[in-house]
Amino acid sequence: MPSEIILIAAISADGYIARNSKDDISWSRDKALFKEQTFGFPIIMGPKTHNIIGKNLPGRENIIVFRHDSIKSVLDKIHNEKCFIIGGEKTFTRFSDYLTHLYLTVHPLIFGDGIPLFHNLDSEIILEKIDSIPIPNTNRIFQDQYKVCR
Ligand SMILES: NC(=O)c1ccc[n+]([C@@H]2O[C@H](COP(=O)([O-])OP(=O)(O)OC[C@H]3O[C@@H](n4cnc5c(N)ncnc54)[C@H](OP(=O)(O)O)[C@@H]3O)[C@@H](O)[C@H]2O)c1
Repeated sequence: MPSEIILIAAISADGYIARNSKDDISWSRDKALFKEQTFGFPIIMGPKTHNIIGKNLPGRENIIVFRHDSIKSVLDKIHNEKCFIIGGEKTFTRFSDYLTHLYLTVHPLIFGDGIPLFHNLDSEIILEKIDSIPIPNTNRIFQDQYKVCR
């Protein structure tokens, strides 16, 4: 199992990852950083996210996780030191017990409703902020990096 299991997401200022389950992530401003950070590492996603992206992302092992897959078995098969969980909400929630880091880019948008980062977590997650990286060519949009404290 990787020693770093990193959730990476773009979120609205009110904590949503999408307006609805068909919404794509065209509003995200951190795609270049996402590519740089995930390149060469396995990326794990749910089937809806894979369909919305519409292809495998190049230069990374694309792992699609279905309803009946065991999360531990998926992670145990990965031999890289890190992997990224890239969405959507159902997949973030299913991997929540295994996350070691969260990389969240808060965008200056309020959706008012939509798909949250997590849904019905069994317990709260306590985080320690470890870094904040400016997104190039934006007006003070940052990727906030957190370590999960258990
Ligand atoms: N802002 C961001 O950074 C970001 C990133 C990624 C995605 N998104 C957005 O997230 C949205 C999709 O999120 P999502 O949560 O609907 O999709 P998802 O996690 O990509 O995939 C959901 C699918 O996972 C399977 N699944 C696995 N465990 C499940 C469970 N316990 N209960 C139900 N289904 C389960 C189901 O497919 P099977 O029944 O076929 O197994 C389900 O249809 C899209 O709008 C996308 O744009 C945003």
